[in-house]
Amino acid sequence: MTNADLRELIVGVDLLTPVHGGRDVPYLNLDNAASTPALTAARDEANRMLEWYASIHRGAGYKSQLASAWYEKAREQTLEFVGADPDYHCVVLTHNTTDAINRLAVKFPYDNDKSVVISHAEHHANDLPWRNRGKVARVPVSPAGEIDPDDLDRVLLKEAKRTRLVSMTGASNVTGTIQPIHELARVAHKYGIPIAIDAAQLAPHVPINMAGSGPDDRIDFLMLSAHKMYAPMGGGALIGIHEFFANTCPSVRGGGAVKAVEPDAVFWADPPERDEAGSPNVLGAVSMAAAMAELKRIGWDVLEEAENRLTKRFINGLLQIDGAILYGLGTDNLDRRLGVIAFNLGDIPHAKVAAILAYEHGIGVRNGCFCAHPFVLSMMQVGEVEARAYSEQVQRGNKSLIPGAVRISFGLYNSEADVDRALDALARIARGDVALEYEEETVHGEFHPVGGATDYERILSGLSPES
Ligand SMILES: Cc1ncc(COP(=O)(O)O)c(C=O)c1O
Repeated sequence: MTNADLRELIVGVDLLTPVHGGRDVPYLNLDNAASTPALTAARDEANRMLEWYASIHRGAGYKSQLASAWYEKAREQTLEFVGADPDYHCVVLTHNTTDAINRLAVKFPYDNDKSVVISHAEHHANDLPWRNRGKVARVPVSPAGEIDPDDLDRVLLKEAKRTRLVSMTGASNVTGTIQPIHELARVAHKYGIPIAIDAAQLAPHVPINMAGSGPDDRIDFLMLSAHKMYAPMGGGALIGIHEFFANTCPSVRGGGAVKAVEPDAVFWADPPERDEAGSPNVLGAVSMAAAMAELKRIGWDVLEEAENRLTKRFINGLLQIDGAILYGLGTDNLDRRLGVIAFNLGDIPHAKVAAILAYEHGIGVRNGCFCAHPFVLSMMQVGEVEARAYSEQVQRGNKSLIPGAVRISFGLYNSEADVDRALDALARIARGDVALEYEEETVHGEFHPVGGATDYERILSGLSPES
């Protein structure tokens, strides 16, 4: 499949957006690690289902029954997509990865004497839900965010007796480093501890095989988000051990999660319904499943080859730019990294680089600490005392000049021309070729052109971007 073929499969890739000077340019989204645009397959499935959309699991009518079957099919497709074992795992459909991890945390038999082991490279979604409920032990990581299974072993040697779960990222959302999840599983299982993988970044890029080669290296729990894998926001999944779900309290409580309710007693439903109280996001689930089917149809080899090519081209070009600092693994390790690339341009504030890319070049990227503050600050060698001072500054409502990086992340539709456009813009910024004057808004730490305001009204009022 060529890049042109892949672009055809995506909604809204070439939309025109305004930049400095009253021009409109095709928007270049290089923030796919945050959210990808939707596949047409996901959009079409959601649209198709809207006609048949009805309450699920509780209605006797044809539409309700059909919607229930559609939703259950999405569940099966999710199980299959992550290579789960239907005799061991089951799928709870959630709103996103954060929701999935919070649900898992609520269910875990975990108190002040027990610990969960995470790594130092976690997104806040796989850190904060575990805090304040017991002890959180952290496995150190390399500056590129690599988790070494031997380090996990060392931590578990001390912690195993009280550890209830190992929960780690499958791929860093900062440096794109892919973790050796099955080796980590082997280590956790050696101590009889289950492992959960935050697959928010992994799932759109590489095939996942939760069942592994058998019980020793299988993944026990896995969490993912639809909006990072070419389906709309609001869908996600927590795939986990069926028996565990059957033997623990529901993560949310309400209608749909019960077999019977008496005034003083509740008899919870079997999994997965036990953890799906309330009306679920049926459209989110079916469009996520359609995106999964489409990714498989395109083929992982096609996706990986295209992503590696763009990553190599971008990193090689970036390192030609005066003052560029790359964080994470280089091009010698393409098989161990995603096209999620964090960097800085000398001492130009990361927020300013992101603003210039947006206002002058029509390029959307992410900057800051990427919801992984502890990791980003240590990656940038900010010491503990300095990090605390920054934290206090932010608490006082001033985010100006907080350390962080710029992140570019590729989607399956991005092209070599996109890479060159971004590199050209970055080279200009690095040499001071900037058209506008910028000022920093200190509360959010964002830069905006002096006196400039962007007009969103024509889109918000329903007009097409071209009108
Ligand atoms: C590694 C990782 N985990 C978890 C999340 C949270 O995902 P969501 O916002 O969809 O819940 C993200 C989002 O960026 C992420 O990159």
